[in-house]
Amino acid sequence: MSKSPNIFIPALGGTALAVGLAYGIASRDYGADKIELLEARVGQVEANAAAASEMANAEADRAAALELQIAKVQAAAKERMASAMNLTAPAPSVEDGFGIGRAAHPEEIAAWDVDVLPDGRGLPEGSGNAYDGEEIFADRCASCHGDFAEGVDNWPVLAGGFDTLADEDPVKTVGSYWPYLSTAYDYIYRSMPFGEAGTLTPDETYAIVAYILYSNDLIDDDYELSHENLGQFEMYNKDGFVLDDRPELEYAQWRAEPCMENCKDEVEITMRSVFLVETPPEGGSNSVMNHATTDGLPTFSAEGPSFIPAAAVKPQEEASGEPDVEEPVAAVAADGGGELVAAGEKVFKKCKACHQVGAGATNKSGPQLNGLIGRTMGSADGFNYSKVFTAAMEEDRVWDEAALAEFLARPKSYMKGTKMAFSGLKKDADIVAITEYLKSAGE
Ligand code: HEC
Ligand code: HEC
Repeated sequence: MSKSPNIFIPALGGTALAVGLAYGIASRDYGADKIELLEARVGQVEANAAAASEMANAEADRAAALELQIAKVQAAAKERMASAMNLTAPAPSVEDGFGIGRAAHPEEIAAWDVDVLPDGRGLPEGSGNAYDGEEIFADRCASCHGDFAEGVDNWPVLAGGFDTLADEDPVKTVGSYWPYLSTAYDYIYRSMPFGEAGTLTPDETYAIVAYILYSNDLIDDDYELSHENLGQFEMYNKDGFVLDDRPELEYAQWRAEPCMENCKDEVEITMRSVFLVETPPEGGSNSVMNHATTDGLPTFSAEGPSFIPAAAVKPQEEASGEPDVEEPVAAVAADGGGELVAAGEKVFKKCKACHQVGAGATNKSGPQLNGLIGRTMGSADGFNYSKVFTAAMEEDRVWDEAALAEFLARPKSYMKGTKMAFSGLKKDADIVAITEYLKSAGE
């Protein structure tokens, strides 16, 4: 609707009023449009502002909540720091449990509690005979164990083999070998058919066990096996096992009444296993927990473990008038080796956890080191050396000072495969000193 005011000028001559009026109308229309537009803009801006302030409020709420949470966590951490400064403090006790897990349902316990003892305890109620058993066996077991429990291909034979146990190639079956029938019930119920364990009912299992007995000619076909007579059933080989109750073996140990409470007056922590247990390459355990002392071992404190052995020669000690082990030869010359020996004794603290030397020294987790220089390697009586030391002994290799120095500097490379869990002495001076000490103490 708004036209340019210029087109009125030639038509109306110099009538300024008319022009003014026309212009006025035109610009009034133009202005109204513009105002509408501006109003719409203002409306939009207001709406945006409202949304923004809403968002800002939400952000502020969230920030406040976070701040609160941070304060809580910090307070809790502070409290924990205060109470956990002592690493040896007993673990906190929790009265209402830890809030995890739940009590097992009776059904769950029943499903798990299926073991059967030789006297029949644990058997579920039920019964079965070889007639029924034959059918079930043909259906569920014969594909592997054969129609008559004679075994298909290499699958286990379950019948026969009587009086072959002393042969070079004995046939051990349920009939010829197993001393208790409870084992058959328990094993089959738990683990067969192979790949479908747990699918047999008690009655089916009684019937199958009866059929296996029948296949072994141990019962007649009308014998009814049940929870009442299974425990008393006498197996063919029941006397073929003897109890190994020699006192030096474990049976005797396990017979002793175990101590269940207050078994020790005082518990003393002597070592931390992190530093003491390593898995030796040849297997077994090489723990030196027993006979251990804390000398020379890392210490633990509230700040965490210190990997610097407490008893190691500390820099201050070295500086403060301690024997100057940097010049061993001069020291030996000066006092006949006395100071060097003293220094070596200190270094020996690093070995003490595993080795003894001197009068009455015995093997600990490492061999005793008496008379070491001049001694055949790997020859301490009664010590169970690793292969590499046994080989050295067989080759008649003898410890001299040079060999010992090389070994102590890098045990694992000088004796590849040694079970001595010690990384080596870094300083030549320590090696010279300890050699002198070993010579003097182990004479
Ligand atoms: C798919 C093949 C397969 C089926 C089916 C099967 N078994 Fe077995 N059975 C095996 C294998 C394999 C072993 C040896 C398992 C082992 O040594 O761990 C075995 C072991 C046994 C043994 C122990 C033998 C011994 O002297 O150590 C018995 C008893 C037995 N099965 C009974 C049964 C019965 C009863 C059934 C039917 C309910 C059955 N098996 C079904 C494969 C099968
Ligand atoms: C963690 C235990 C442990 C520590 C620490 C340790 N050793 Fe051993 N040491 C052993 C064991 C174990 C053997 C036997 C090695 C084998 O059979 O491979 C051994 C063997 C030796 C032998 C060989 C003895 C022989 O009969 O041939 C010497 C020498 C020796 N250690 C010296 C030292 C010295 C010196 C230190 C300290 C600087 C030391 N060891 C630290 C465990 C240790």
